[in-house]
Amino acid sequence: MHAIARAARERLTEDADPLLLQYGTMAGPLGFRESLAAYLSAGYGHDVAADELVVTGGISTALGLAAEVFSAPGQCVVMGDPTYFLARGIFETLRLETAAVAVDEHGLNVDALELELRRGLNVSLVYCIPSFHNPCGVNLAPDRARRLVELAQQYDFMVLADEPYVLLHFGDAPPPCMMSFDGGRNRVVSLGSFSKLLGPGLRLGWVHGAQPVVERFTEHGVLRSGGGLNPIASELVHATIESGFLREHVGTLRETLQERAAALVGALRVHVPDATFERPDGGYFCWVDLGVDVDDRMLLRHCLAEHGVGFTPGSACTASGEPGRHVRLSFSFYEARELEEAVERLARGLGTFSQL
Ligand SMILES: Cc1ncc(COP(=O)(O)O)c(C=O)c1O
Repeated sequence: MHAIARAARERLTEDADPLLLQYGTMAGPLGFRESLAAYLSAGYGHDVAADELVVTGGISTALGLAAEVFSAPGQCVVMGDPTYFLARGIFETLRLETAAVAVDEHGLNVDALELELRRGLNVSLVYCIPSFHNPCGVNLAPDRARRLVELAQQYDFMVLADEPYVLLHFGDAPPPCMMSFDGGRNRVVSLGSFSKLLGPGLRLGWVHGAQPVVERFTEHGVLRSGGGLNPIASELVHATIESGFLREHVGTLRETLQERAAALVGALRVHVPDATFERPDGGYFCWVDLGVDVDDRMLLRHCLAEHGVGFTPGSACTASGEPGRHVRLSFSFYEARELEEAVERLARGLGTFSQL
């Protein structure tokens, strides 16, 4: 809050340019997009240009806009299984059909997708979460990412890459951003957000795509009528990029998340030894197979009521929604000792639940 308050004091002064309160350009303020492009180029290790960016109200808004721009009602969106549990509602609200393709330890199973395409599945969009997947924590293997873009060209669909966690890597370099696989095919629409870097209340994000792709966005009626999205939030975040705060803050965030992930993983190994999971290498989530056959939603109710601990039941993230033995544990919000305490409680909950 400190940095945003400082940005507001600096930028929202009485003698600030009154144009700030006017309708703006469809793609968002050019100065902000230039700063953002430089920030992303450094962070991704991949060149990003200002004219490849459109400012959005965060990924949720952008998912709806992208679905409207690149699909028509009744067309089919492929989603990973499991996937970000609130994305389906956005596509369904727009009367799109959804189909599921499995996600494994290397991300979306692109071979399985290819099989479905060969069998005649007609798709307008493939929605994927290539880096530090929500809920699975995994990254899309580069050969799969490359193949996905080739398939997009061959079968005429767009790859809708939801990438809010790519800069939250624990190792030295981030996983490659999805646009680095586009190779001039104009098939990738990458969505980024400040929600996980600064705060979701800002409602600010961006679309990253080749120029002809982002132009399709700026032709959307909502952007034309509104004169772009969220100019005031753009101005505040612009200040945090220019001052160097964002870069420093994201560095600290990565260290904090890494410590918290280590605490969670350590506690799971001690207290839930039958659990299996991929050790997170970035992002917010650990996807855990509890190693016992339980109904995840009933277990959640029991854990909340009897042990004061919660989690996202895996079945909330799967296409079938059927009860299962997976849970999504988020290590972003709580401190290391709270996470350790939470895992101890989860272990106690598992013990008392299985005795019921
Ligand atoms: C994969 C994924 N996409 C999108 C969102 C929502 O992003 P935004 O706040 O930018 O709308 C989230 C938030 O948890 C997420 O995990």
